[in-house]
Amino acid sequence: MENIVEMISQRDLAGRVEELAKQLNADFEGQQVVFVCLLKGAVVFMADLMRHIKLDITTEYMEIASYSSNQSTGEIQLKKDIGVDIADKDVVVIEDIIDTGATLKFVDKHLMAKGPASIKYCVLLDNPVRRQEGCLNPHYTGFTIPNRYVFGYGLDHDGKYRQLPYIAALTV
Ligand code: IMP
Ligand code: MG
Repeated sequence: MENIVEMISQRDLAGRVEELAKQLNADFEGQQVVFVCLLKGAVVFMADLMRHIKLDITTEYMEIASYSSNQSTGEIQLKKDIGVDIADKDVVVIEDIIDTGATLKFVDKHLMAKGPASIKYCVLLDNPVRRQEGCLNPHYTGFTIPNRYVFGYGLDHDGKYRQLPYIAALTV
């Protein structure tokens, strides 16, 4: 096992996730919403978030490949599309982390073409340092983090560590 350091504790994650859910419950009160989880990283976040959601939601899953190892390849590919018609629906995309913003830009273009009534982005972690021009900013953000590679709580490091209950980084 490599030397890893805790960056965001299990307790802080739980508290913030509940706050985000409360905000979504208030903002979408009385509405039907389609939650779109971006595989695989956002699985743990969405699982915890949706258990605090009191809205009329359905859940969909979409997979984007944008990273090889720890370096952005700049290439984005759709690996799995959502399975329902979202025309005229209100959509909330659930993502683990935004870095350059290229992934969410791709997702936005792809989903907007399906004619939803609205799309909002709910992202657990925001690493704003490397954000590219013309990229959207998330409507809901859990934590803003420094420019380090992080993993755990669904996020991977070379495919591993997704099961850690906290957000970690490598010791430098
Ligand atoms: P972006 O397209 O540069 O915004 O990168 C976002 C995507 O890259 C996320 O969906 C993650 O899968 C992955 N990613 C970016 N930074 C990290 C990180 O620090 N740890 C794990 N995955 C990351
Ligand atoms: Mg991802």
